[in-house]
Amino acid sequence: MTITAPEPARVRTVDHVFHSWSAQARIDPLPIARAEGSYFWDDQGRRYLDFSSQLVNVNIGYQHPRLVAAIAEQAARLCTVAPGFANDTRSEAARLIAEVAPGDLDKVFFTNGGAEANENALRMARVHTGRHKVLAAYRSYHGATAGAIAVTGEPRRWASEPGVSGVVRYWGPYAYRSAFHAADEQEESARALQHLRDLLAVEGPHTVAAILLETVVGTNGVLVPPPGYLAGVRALCDEFGIVMIADEVMSGFGRCGEWFAVDHWDVVPDLITFAKGVNSGYVPLGGVVISTAIAATFDERPYPGGLTYSGHPLACASAVASIGVFREEGILEHARALGRDVIGPELRALAQRHPSVGEVRGLGVMWALELVRDRDTREPLVPFNATGAAAAPMAEFAAACKAGGLWPFTHFNRTHVVPPCTTTPEEIREGVAVLDAALDTVDRYYTGK
Ligand SMILES: Cc1ncc(COP(=O)(O)O)c(C=O)c1O
Repeated sequence: MTITAPEPARVRTVDHVFHSWSAQARIDPLPIARAEGSYFWDDQGRRYLDFSSQLVNVNIGYQHPRLVAAIAEQAARLCTVAPGFANDTRSEAARLIAEVAPGDLDKVFFTNGGAEANENALRMARVHTGRHKVLAAYRSYHGATAGAIAVTGEPRRWASEPGVSGVVRYWGPYAYRSAFHAADEQEESARALQHLRDLLAVEGPHTVAAILLETVVGTNGVLVPPPGYLAGVRALCDEFGIVMIADEVMSGFGRCGEWFAVDHWDVVPDLITFAKGVNSGYVPLGGVVISTAIAATFDERPYPGGLTYSGHPLACASAVASIGVFREEGILEHARALGRDVIGPELRALAQRHPSVGEVRGLGVMWALELVRDRDTREPLVPFNATGAAAAPMAEFAAACKAGGLWPFTHFNRTHVVPPCTTTPEEIREGVAVLDAALDTVDRYYTGK
């Protein structure tokens, strides 16, 4: 069609940009003009403290000069090179990622983001084992491409069903709303593992290629695995020759205060998928870190997958710079201390003041407040997957945050506290003060004692 260029100030994003996950006529996206550190500014000059890190990816904050310089230098030298060639920047990014990955995970297949990383991890697991089935968790998100959405365990999958075959779903641990009627975390861990074992028995463990999980479940709740759970999954995978895939797209690269969240529990998966925090999304990048045994499957037989932009030099240059920043600026130590000494205590203090905070949970810089109408019944503030009027209390909460200059991350009946890992304690307290005021709007819906 012919498009007449309007005055620049009058260009509206919804005229020509088709936005993700949205009814196009019902959205009015905020125009972002610039950003720095933990803040971004809209086109009217209004500043927001970002408690969402965009989509939980800006782990080292906005516009880090070292990443900006690394991208510019690489752009001046070599903007693009096909994956079939060797390239020093790509090799260095892979070396650094292998260096920070646990165990013998030593090779990296690069993708453009998290969904493609999971697609390729599933492909590797299937070819490596010669099996097809995958066990995937309810309350999970793995991406929006065909395979990744099929293993996703939440409503964003529904419209893409029936999807690919051979996906079997299981319940992961979630002590606050236990699928196993467990009384505490130990029981939750033991029962969740027994449930997996039972599922394997009836599915036939010899037909299962992989067990896929988010090490710490992200968008679907910041669900931190209880003690023993990950080690138990590892043991089940070893017993039955199944590939353990840890999706660390959200939980990796500092978000949980470690390079990878599995490091908290000293568990080594066979494949780790990553994206987001690897380079804070400055240039699209994701990938799979691969164990020696799985990599060896493809020593003599070609790997049946690839992408035009696998290991794109601009993305890899930013990853190299980002890992350098993590090391030299002590980002992991900062993230750990921020969670332990500031975010955790501040959020628990909010729970003391606001009856509608049913649970505070998290670690590092990955936290959630679960909002309820009644602490005894744990009735969520809004129903599962609510939209429109049913979701109004959460919409009011989000609006109150934004009016206070805070950009929140909300999902169902929760608000997540997922700012950049570089956020200062003062900035956290500034944001928590806004949450405090916004929770007054939520308390009005409280019906419990
Ligand atoms: C745990 C997890 N896996 C995979 C993805 C998909 O990543 P991408 O949007 O880069 O494809 C996401 C995105 O939010 C995620 O949180």
